[in-house]
Amino acid sequence: MIRLLMPLPVAPRRLTRAFSYLPAVACVVVGLLGSQSPVRAAVDDRTRVVLEALGRMKAADVESNPALKKALERVLSQVRGEPEFIGLVRDFKVTGQEAAVREFLVAHPESPAAVDAARLLLDGPPPVDVGLAQAGPAVRLAGVIKVVGETEDRRLVPLVMPLAADPAQPAEVRRAAVTALARVQDGAQALLGLVRSNRLADDLRFVAGGLLRSSRWPAIRTEAGTLLPAPAAKGAEPLPPLAELVKRTGDPARGAAVFRRADVGCIQCHQVNGEGVDFGPNLSEIGTKLGRDALAEAVLDPSAGISFGFEAWAIQLKNGDDLTGLIVGETEQELSVKLQGGTVNRLKKVEVAKREKQALSIMPAGLQQAMTTQEFVDLLEYLASLKKGAR
Ligand code: HEC
Repeated sequence: MIRLLMPLPVAPRRLTRAFSYLPAVACVVVGLLGSQSPVRAAVDDRTRVVLEALGRMKAADVESNPALKKALERVLSQVRGEPEFIGLVRDFKVTGQEAAVREFLVAHPESPAAVDAARLLLDGPPPVDVGLAQAGPAVRLAGVIKVVGETEDRRLVPLVMPLAADPAQPAEVRRAAVTALARVQDGAQALLGLVRSNRLADDLRFVAGGLLRSSRWPAIRTEAGTLLPAPAAKGAEPLPPLAELVKRTGDPARGAAVFRRADVGCIQCHQVNGEGVDFGPNLSEIGTKLGRDALAEAVLDPSAGISFGFEAWAIQLKNGDDLTGLIVGETEQELSVKLQGGTVNRLKKVEVAKREKQALSIMPAGLQQAMTTQEFVDLLEYLASLKKGAR
């Protein structure tokens, strides 16, 4: 087989010294591709062998060998859309593949190769485009932003910044943008700039504050401490960081009492085992659904992950009235809106002038200010204890 493949279009002079190991590998690469029938699976066994062989070469080897270059081009077209494609473009410094790299990044932001793809695009010729405009649904876009953030490359700032500051973007996109920005110094600075000019949305303050107060750049930490102070418990006592808070143990019985206290108000919006007002999600089994950190976050930053169907809507009526509540039903003629306290208003649609989904949860932020740190820990213990069958 080797003999059949021997006549390689490689000048003999080239095969000396540094490239002396090349012929055998090159034979395999070019040979396998040369005898190739149309490929079905994107990365079949034969392509794998070629990839393996190419993996042992250097970019310069391929650059100086037209046959290998051709082989590389072919294998590139075979693995387009696969993680191997990104590896080849990176290792052999292949140019002009931005569209395909972008396509991969947008389709597979969760792939381990996605960060490399993002880096290739950031390093690519201007105008740099990491595919944010073509990512589509919010989850996907948030995923791409997250990966771009993982490059920790300052060039991400101008790309991601507009999304962080755009109130029209879904919450998860803006959150992902803030998180990505906080990973690079310029981005963290830019976020502080938004806070200073009052352009950081309220529902992002908790995330941004948490990230920037623990930033690795001391000047950022200091300024964040002033601009975005840590959430405080009763009497402005600063709460310890979340990671520490969730490690403490509390008294669930005391927590149950805190939950029912009028100045705290949980029971005025939540039911537990039939007690309380049916407005927000039923919490009878919340300890099964959420871990301690998520429970703490649900109280400290209610807008972080608004449960589906519990989004707040601002509704304006044609008579000038407005109300805020949860939309719990809709027919052709009517809109059912549940208001705080649990009553359901049935509005005639002809009377509704406008309805707008709110980024902020109806559950108010800052409820922990009515509790001491220990009471907050007790409350968490109580919530964690609310599980199926446990009463
Ligand atoms: C004004 C009404 C209101 C008050 C007061 C309130 N909540 Fe909520 N809560 C809601 C609403 C509405 C949601 C759903 C939207 C969201 O997730 O932010 C919610 C969500 C939650 C969730 C997440 C539920 C899930 O299924 O993911 C938890 C946990 C929670 N609240 C606990 C509490 C605790 C503890 C208190 C008291 C410290 C409290 N809430 C006070 C209205 C309220």
